[in-house]
Amino acid sequence: MQYKTKILGTGKYLPKKVLTNFDIEKIVDTSDQWIFERTGIKERRISNPEGGELPSDMAAMASENALNAANLTPNDIDLIILSTVFPDYRLPCTTSVVMEKLGMTKQCPGIDISPACSGFVYGVHIAESFIRNGTYKNVLVIGTEKLSGGLNWKDRSTCILFGDGCGAAVLGRAPEGDKSEILSSVIQTDHTGGKFLHMKEGGAAIPFSKEILEEDDHYIKMAGRDLFKVATRTLSDNAKEAIEKANLKLSDIKWMVPHQANIRIIEKCGELLGIPSEKVIVNIQKYGNTSAATIPIAFHEAIEEGKIKRGDLVLFNAFGAGVTSGATVLRY
Ligand SMILES: CC(C)(COP(=O)(O)OP(=O)(O)OC[C@H]1O[C@@H](n2cnc3c(N)ncnc32)[C@H](O)[C@@H]1OP(=O)(O)O)[C@@H](O)C(=O)NCCC(=O)NCCS
Repeated sequence: MQYKTKILGTGKYLPKKVLTNFDIEKIVDTSDQWIFERTGIKERRISNPEGGELPSDMAAMASENALNAANLTPNDIDLIILSTVFPDYRLPCTTSVVMEKLGMTKQCPGIDISPACSGFVYGVHIAESFIRNGTYKNVLVIGTEKLSGGLNWKDRSTCILFGDGCGAAVLGRAPEGDKSEILSSVIQTDHTGGKFLHMKEGGAAIPFSKEILEEDDHYIKMAGRDLFKVATRTLSDNAKEAIEKANLKLSDIKWMVPHQANIRIIEKCGELLGIPSEKVIVNIQKYGNTSAATIPIAFHEAIEEGKIKRGDLVLFNAFGAGVTSGATVLRY
């Protein structure tokens, strides 16, 4: 027996503190104009872990929203998949902390994954597979990130790009005759691009040392131009594959919800796919790149704003460090 999967509800949490480009002008040699023209970003949010905005706190709040929208309670969840590259702790896994914060009184499996900015699309793919084969009925997929914690605030090429936040979605079985459905998905990892975005120091290969801390080697490092090229190619290739798998044409897509890394990447991807800008959901100006959280936040906001409606054909399209990538086609 195979089951169709639909998105039952979505939610988001964005930290209260806003950091504008003008604020960053006071930290590094940059300008609002440079940042906006090159990236589309005006401001981003910065979480306050002491103020109840740890990745797990943001995840619990976004998940509560998503559960409410789905008319479910935490104990209705059968599996949690949480993507983060900035967990609260090394151990225990963040899903375990989120279960506690959600007040779950039953046990269920929790899987932490870290395909970086593709994490939500990976999570949806895994969730859909488990729901389709009947293993689990309701799966909570979360992308929660505190990338500001990994930024070198002396490096103007990276510190301007990222922000913190969380998006979540509850996926479940689509009842017989329901038009909403995840139609196809594709996930990939191209290891040849692993060198373009990394944070190697502080792991098992290069443990923390006084020298590493002194030289600021424990922060995110990026080859922006190289990543830019890989991103545009990967995003369009995956989208075409997922759309073909769903037996659809590019022109059938009503909304593209791309990973929000850079407005120029988003525009190039739309151009390569022939998807006009009015069909593309963009909120990068408000939040920057929140990694695995960008797609669920943008999707949730587009639903709230009444843009994306039940029955619309939607394309999620992501890439991230790895280089991981993925696309999902769904009828919302
Ligand atoms: C990072 C990114 C915005 C840089 O834009 P770019 O057009 O490629 O710019 P470059 O890196 O070539 O730098 C051009 C110049 O601007 C300067 N520059 C870089 N960051 C700057 C900043 N914040 N403010 C002002 N100048 C800056 C550089 O030093 C360089 O100066 P130079 O010509 O004197 O050497 C862009 O490459 C990008 O977005 N790449 C993809 C990154 C990404 O998506 N990462 C997340 C993956 S999930």
